[in-house]
Amino acid sequence: MQVIKYAFQQHGDERGQLVAIEEFKDIPFEIKRVYYMYDTGEGVRRGYHAHKNLEQILICIHGSCKILLDNGEEKKVVLLEKPYEGLYISNDMWREMYDFSSDAVLLVLASDYYDEEDYIRDYDTFLASKVKHMQDDQGKDRRREQ
Ligand code: TYD
Repeated sequence: MQVIKYAFQQHGDERGQLVAIEEFKDIPFEIKRVYYMYDTGEGVRRGYHAHKNLEQILICIHGSCKILLDNGEEKKVVLLEKPYEGLYISNDMWREMYDFSSDAVLLVLASDYYDEEDYIRDYDTFLASKVKHMQDDQGKDRRREQ
């Protein structure tokens, strides 16, 4: 599984740092929604879902946290601890967020508006959707070969 991380340009000078993120320039999608998590309780683990059709960039703009990525076949843990680093997550990726430092602020840029219908919140349903996509792709490949 390929983990896609962006290192955003830091405009630093003697006054401090500044990061600017522009849609289609610094990230590959139009930003339709921004949300952030903070005051996350100790030991909390959240997320536990995948999206059917949503791109996101996660940036821990303060403190640190870990993100578990699971594509149904492989799992990877990504530590986010730099305010200029963004983790890209696309469709069909199960994610869990945990190990939040008490000062963590996790900012999310999303390619679409909030839509509960876009969520897959059940892990078995997620795995079943991955198998279905694989079968659909294999069907397409076979049709191409004919
Ligand atoms: P939830 O999906 O449980 O967060 P997580 O996946 O991080 O565990 O979201 C918490 C609440 O916030 C839930 O009531 C839905 C609401 N919410 C919105 O209204 N808009 C949003 O963009 C998001 C992400 C959540």
